[in-house]
Amino acid sequence: MNTFRFGTSKEEVLQAIPERKIKKLAAGERRLAILRLGEQFHVFDAHCPHRGADLSHANINGAGEIICPLHQYRFDLKTGDVRAGYCTSLPLFRNELTESGLCIYLP
Ligand code: FES
Repeated sequence: MNTFRFGTSKEEVLQAIPERKIKKLAAGERRLAILRLGEQFHVFDAHCPHRGADLSHANINGAGEIICPLHQYRFDLKTGDVRAGYCTSLPLFRNELTESGLCIYLP
């Protein structure tokens, strides 16, 4: 498992990622999307598992689902499971906000 660190402090991370906005970033070859809800972060693959749409342009609904902007498939924010549509689950990545930045644990 690799650890990718975003930012150098908790404050920097909170300022860099506005509430309920999705930020896209590169972690080596991988493109990640990070959503902030309060001081909780959800990190997922930036490419939709259906046809690869850019999920940094996704919407989040009140049921805790990521809605792909291309065909509106919906994915559970906590598990990555498909809630509407026919494709594989969305890869999610465990993360932890620390005093030295957001640690993202990649397989
Ligand atoms: S590309 Fe995301 S639902 Fe089709």
